[in-house]
This record gives sequence, structure tokens and C-alpha cells, in this order.
Amino acid sequence: MSIKGKSLFGLEGVGKEDLELILRVAEKMKTVVNSDNKKLPLLHGKSVANMFFEPSTRTRSSFELAAKYLGADVLNFTPAISSLVKGESFRDTLLTVTALGVDAIVMRHKQEGAPFFAGQCVDPLIINAGDGAHEHPTQALLDLFTIAEVKGHIDGLKVVIVGDIDHGRVARSNIYGLKTLGADVHLVGPRTLLQPEMASLGVTVHYDLAEALENADVINVLRIQKERQGSGFFPGDREYASLFGIHRDRLQAAKKDVLILHPGPMNRDLEIGTDVCYGAHSAIQEQVKNGISVRMAVLYLTIIGGDDVDLTR
Ligand code: CP
Repeated sequence: MSIKGKSLFGLEGVGKEDLELILRVAEKMKTVVNSDNKKLPLLHGKSVANMFFEPSTRTRSSFELAAKYLGADVLNFTPAISSLVKGESFRDTLLTVTALGVDAIVMRHKQEGAPFFAGQCVDPLIINAGDGAHEHPTQALLDLFTIAEVKGHIDGLKVVIVGDIDHGRVARSNIYGLKTLGADVHLVGPRTLLQPEMASLGVTVHYDLAEALENADVINVLRIQKERQGSGFFPGDREYASLFGIHRDRLQAAKKDVLILHPGPMNRDLEIGTDVCYGAHSAIQEQVKNGISVRMAVLYLTIIGGDDVDLTR
């Protein structure tokens, strides 16, 4: 079993064995991230281009550290000071970066399908770092990793994803990954941000928060993505916060040891209260840290391959 040479455009269609392989290798990578010497020679001589056409803090930084901890060279392409500004096309930009000899391109883009299109244009592996409202596979992988780390398993857990589902690439990738690993997935949000057709993905759709949170093992709170909502956000901030905001009193309905996740960045006191995001149930900072280990696993397994990793330095 190997995912060597395979681009990662999303988690749709990614099988259980491949997900478990990535999570297993990420667990080993985390021992390195937690150690005094984070440097491994596993990608020595390889190079990775970070191409972020949309803003990012966590994903961009953790991909950069992941590649560097594995010994790769990193090219940080910055659209605003590139020849895109002079009219060079997206495809020619990709061909230029490819000509520089990179082995993999990590891409974020506001346009759904841009990483897939890139994969049709050039040879390096493409790792989707979030494309529009489509998918954000490595965010979902780090969410899966964090759930498994805290709960010990994923199979059979009730996972509730709350918020702006329709514009949520994180929601979509989480649904695919969680379903493949046997979780019971529930979605909840206002009708304007959650289409009932999402039920066709094998999830339960709710429009009442208290009903959705009943006996939840995990609550994954999503950001309200106003930048993708066109003419306006409906309901408005106050209505959303009172009906769907996750505050401490909302957790009463969930299991006593409920785990709180949020991919970040957070609109605090809109979708999540300060009492919850920095509270005892929250693993939000650990998610950020786990992003490095998971991305190390993805880079290693797609560029080098294999069904395990040897960390003997
Ligand atoms: N979760 C996430 O994708 O965060 P960034 O936009 O900061 O990368």
C-alpha cells in the first residue's frame, strides 16, 4: 500500500487504508515535532513550492515547517509580488515554477478546482491546501488525527459539524474522512447556510442546535465565511450567535467529555464563545500543532511513499 506519486485534491474517494496510513505516519511524525531535534533527512534533496493565492496563517506556515523539518527546500511563491501582477497566466506561472524543478506544489486558491486544473497542467504532485468551498483535505486529516488522539478512536463517535456548511471546504473534507472512518456525522446550521441535500452524503441534517448536540462526542465549529456569502450574511451576527453560537451552556446537551474543534481563524463570540474556545474541552491549539505532523506525513508519503516511515536518523 502506498500513496507515492498521488496528488491530494480532496478526501472524496480516499480509502480507509490510505487515511489510516496517513494518520499512523503522522503519529510518528509528532514524536519528532515534540522532540528537541525536529530535523529529519527524509526529503533531503527535494523541493516543495508553497503557492497560496488566498490568505492563510496556519496551513501555509505548517506546510512550510513540515517540509523544512523533513529536510526539503521550500519555495514560498507570493502572488502579490509575482509576474501574475504583470499579466502572466496561472498556467504559465505553474509551468515556470515547475521549470525550477520542484517535486510538489502545495496550493490554496479561492477557485474550486484550481489544484485539479494545476494537476492537469504540470507534473509535480499537487497538494490541495484549500480550494474555494470545495475541499481542504489536510485540515480534515488534522481534525481526524486530533479526534483519534483525544478519543482513541473515530469509529462510532457522534461528530457534529456546526455552522456555515454550504461555504465550508472543511465541512466537506471532514464529512468524507469521518464517514470513511465510521463516525456518525451530523450537520447543523441555519437553513440559509445548510442545504438539506447535504443528507445525500450520508449525514444527518439539523436546523436546531440543541437537537443536534444531544450526546455529541465531538463538536467541530466552523467559521462563518462572510467573504464567500455574496450579497449578505443571513441571519445577521446577533441572531446567528444566539441560535447557533457555541457557548458553555450549549455544551450541556453533549457528552460530559465532548471535544471542541475549530479549524480557525475564529470569529470569537459569533460562532464560538471565548469560554469554549479557550475552555477545558477545546483542542483548538493542539489542532494547529497537529497540522505540522499531518502535513509531514502527507508530504513524505506522497513524495517518497511506503507503508510506514523509518525515523532512524
Ligand atoms: N484552517 C485554516 O485553513 O487556517 P488558515 O486559513 O489560517 O490556513
